[in-house]
Amino acid sequence: MKMPNLMESKQRGKEKVKIIKDDFIIDNDLKKIGQDKKYYIKTYGCQMNMRDSETLRALLEMMSYTEADNYEQADILLLNTCAIRENVHNKVFGMLGRFKHLKESRPNIVVGIAGCMSQEEVVVEKILSKYKWMDFVIGTHNIHRLPQVLDEALEKRGLKVEVWSKEGDIIENVPIKRDSEYKAWVNIMYGCDKFCTYCIVPYTRGKQRSRMPEDIVKEVKELVSDGYKEITLLGQNVNAYGKDFDNINYNMSNLLEDVSKTGIKRIRFVTSHPWDFTDDMIDVIKNNENIMPYFHLPIQSGSDKILKLMGRRYNKQDYLELFNKIKQAIPNASITTDIIVGFPNETEEDFEETLDVVNKCKFDGAYTFIYSPRVGTPAAKMEDNITLEEKELRLQELNKLVNKYSRLSNEKLLHQVVPVLIEGYSEKGNNTLMGYTDTFKLVNVIGDEKYIGKIVDVEITEVKSWSLNGRINDAD
Ligand code: 5AD
Ligand code: SF4
Repeated sequence: MKMPNLMESKQRGKEKVKIIKDDFIIDNDLKKIGQDKKYYIKTYGCQMNMRDSETLRALLEMMSYTEADNYEQADILLLNTCAIRENVHNKVFGMLGRFKHLKESRPNIVVGIAGCMSQEEVVVEKILSKYKWMDFVIGTHNIHRLPQVLDEALEKRGLKVEVWSKEGDIIENVPIKRDSEYKAWVNIMYGCDKFCTYCIVPYTRGKQRSRMPEDIVKEVKELVSDGYKEITLLGQNVNAYGKDFDNINYNMSNLLEDVSKTGIKRIRFVTSHPWDFTDDMIDVIKNNENIMPYFHLPIQSGSDKILKLMGRRYNKQDYLELFNKIKQAIPNASITTDIIVGFPNETEEDFEETLDVVNKCKFDGAYTFIYSPRVGTPAAKMEDNITLEEKELRLQELNKLVNKYSRLSNEKLLHQVVPVLIEGYSEKGNNTLMGYTDTFKLVNVIGDEKYIGKIVDVEITEVKSWSLNGRINDAD
């Protein structure tokens, strides 16, 4: 049993992170465990987790498991969890309740969780006391050990917990089974050292570790030769990429430039912290047409007082200056943001400041959240002194404004022709295809299968708040 420990995961030691480039192999015995058996993975949370699930899937397939259409058919059921807000906890425990039910009729199924919730002491304690019927808990730093953890859980038929509180090494050759044949997630760094006071990520994902530029560029070159059109460079705070290198002087703008030279058609990157956004980055994005004019730039709050309490290290003015600088350099840039309402001590005036920023920036879109205290973070020690009713009212008011500007920005595209990477069929059915513009706007088009995987010119014919409808003009 290896339990998570929040105090330990908070430490930022000086020890060097090892980069392991050996071929990834598993024992022959482990390769047969999943023969004639099926797996089901459900992913919660951010792109980082989606990317991790691609590895979890590949590892299970190395063990001969095949993918089930639904959890009722599966022999191994795995939830890749997110710890960022309480509502995901509730969903995960709700799902585990259903799995328990299934296990009563099929005692041989194996149920486990991975992801950020596994790194939380409170979660693992709850599992040990109330969910003892589960089979395994695996943390974020050791997902490559899934085959061994699963093997031990199967052998002992008891709950196996293996969570490392200290981040591990960077392991380069862990297998991936990608979700898409056209667009791919590419990790460029792991962890985060920003410690915003409300955020659990620096504890669940550990200290910042950047991958070496040559490993990233090699991965992107392989994706280009496999026919991929789009990559998204992933990190909790990508602008801080390279700050942890002690032997080379290389940063996010250098990486963007080098990745751009691989010839991949579209490059995106998430998530940016306004603090580390440099003028060099703006120049590189402006000068390379395969870097998409799309920025996700979380502001979190418009109030200087709240930003300070959040430990964000910029104020409203700094944010507005950066926002305007980007818009001036790249006039067609689309900018989205994240906003939290109801942070401790947020007064009506503070909230008005947030609305004011939204009115000034007229964001293309915003992800809005009610503050959710996370055990172990500094903000959780502050009094959560805004009533839920007040938080909900603020969220509603904010969402109304956000939707208005999102729709306005979409309306500017009406009758314009925009490039869209067609990713596949839309959930709407009826031969509707879907894809995203360069500016990351969702577009639905009626069209032939032959366009899937291509970047096509689409004329926008109808505008909604969160999506667009269009007609294909031409393929690349
Ligand atoms: N409560 C509410 N929202 C949060 N986020 C992060 N931590 C919390 C929390 N404790 C939001 C932030 C972040 C996004 C990914 O989730 O807005 O940018
Ligand atoms: Fe969390 Fe702040 Fe790091 Fe983003 S930058 S992951 S909000 S601590």
